[in-house]
Amino acid sequence: MNPSLAAAVASSPSTVTFPADFLFGSATAAYQVEGAVAEGGRGPSVWDTFSHTPGKVHAGENGDVACDHFHRFRDDVALMKRLNLKVYRFSVSWSRVMPDGVTVNPEGLKFYSDLVDELLAAGILPWLTQYHWDLPQALEDAGGWANRATTQHFVEYAVVLHEALGDRVRHWTTLNEPWCAAFLGYANGHHAPGRTSPEDALAAAHHLLLGHGLAVAELRRRDPELELGLTLNFTDYRPADPTAPGDVDAARRLDGSFNRFFASAIFEGAYPADVLEDQRGLWREGLVQEGDLEIISTPIDVLGVNFYTGELLTGPDPAQAPAAAAQARAQGAPNPNVGSEHVVPVPRGLPATSMGWEVFPEGLRDLLLRLHRDYAGPASVALYVTENGAAYPDAPDGEGFVQDDDRLSYIREHLRAVREAMDAGADVRGYFVWSLLDNFEWAFGYDRRFGIVRVDYDTLQRTPKASANWYAQVAATGVVD
Ligand code: NOJ
Repeated sequence: MNPSLAAAVASSPSTVTFPADFLFGSATAAYQVEGAVAEGGRGPSVWDTFSHTPGKVHAGENGDVACDHFHRFRDDVALMKRLNLKVYRFSVSWSRVMPDGVTVNPEGLKFYSDLVDELLAAGILPWLTQYHWDLPQALEDAGGWANRATTQHFVEYAVVLHEALGDRVRHWTTLNEPWCAAFLGYANGHHAPGRTSPEDALAAAHHLLLGHGLAVAELRRRDPELELGLTLNFTDYRPADPTAPGDVDAARRLDGSFNRFFASAIFEGAYPADVLEDQRGLWREGLVQEGDLEIISTPIDVLGVNFYTGELLTGPDPAQAPAAAAQARAQGAPNPNVGSEHVVPVPRGLPATSMGWEVFPEGLRDLLLRLHRDYAGPASVALYVTENGAAYPDAPDGEGFVQDDDRLSYIREHLRAVREAMDAGADVRGYFVWSLLDNFEWAFGYDRRFGIVRVDYDTLQRTPKASANWYAQVAATGVVD
């Protein structure tokens, strides 16, 4: 620890310390960082198609080059090592290892094998995410996640990855944020593949979860020692006025369709009855088949928690809500909140990031405690914060250095919230900052920067920001000042 940090720690009453085995790491995703989209036999994914469709991504940007991590991964691993990171969460590009979604491409597998070797040589644990939204285009052409057959291809993909990497990768998550993949991808079309059908979105959500369950069962059968799970995204939803029935119902609805829908399917083997009621008429006949929910709720070992923000909500009186939702659907722009389209966020005046997301660290504390109490604890599942971080309007100096006090403080306050949840009993084992690098922020292109390391998109040079230097000390010492 440097002397000034040590002094600050000694004098700060609010210093918190994490257990020695707590994993501090960083996260990225394939399409957001790799680039090299036409190299090594990679096939196109839905994000290649979507980002090359005019009007879909800010300024017409795409992931063709991104951070060029594909060519620079050895330098990036060296950088993580310099930042004292213990674990790296990356995703595999399905269409790099299976260009058409079904045919194996050994050259693509070699990239991830080399990455894993490089990480292990640097003493960094590899944490693999199988699916971070980049479905092979060939599978989308065959119906995408709205087609049940995609779940079987997903299992075959899991097996291919396990055969190539399972000897060295022990931490394995199937999906990242299925809510986004299903509802941004298929309901409001803001993400690839850009469809706008609530019915397709529910089919996609169900099939994503089914693919997860099938893959977990198959991987478990092959390799009982794997640490298996998935990453879900959660938002803290509260009623703007806790005495107003419409606001209370608004919070129930969005918490239901966004948070409980997934957690309940995974841990309880059932979609919540109230959510199904809100989504009545939108589930296709025969979509959910006998035994699906048992497969979806196949036991897992770890739950990845992505958390960024909270929202206060307002909405119509519960008696009017179904009609309001139907009306909003009929009249309004496509909405990802299927079954609760009429719910409206109310800004509460908290500082917000460049995404417009209010900074609400106590939401993370409360969420971890709730997940531990309601889902993970009873199932003896460990929690990991697999993403947390912030985009801010960075202002680099002449050397490309960014004094990002706003991001540093965001991460610090959320780490304190994690520690508070642990003190109150939540079994949280690690934290991954989103993100290691500035990268391709989906529909926002390169306009929003989440990295603790700046990427100059002209030179592709990496420069650690103040938050990275600070986080390196945290990772080395376990102490948050
Ligand atoms: C969640 C996603 O997993 C990640 O890809 C994205 O960049 C961050 N949130 C920030 O929006």
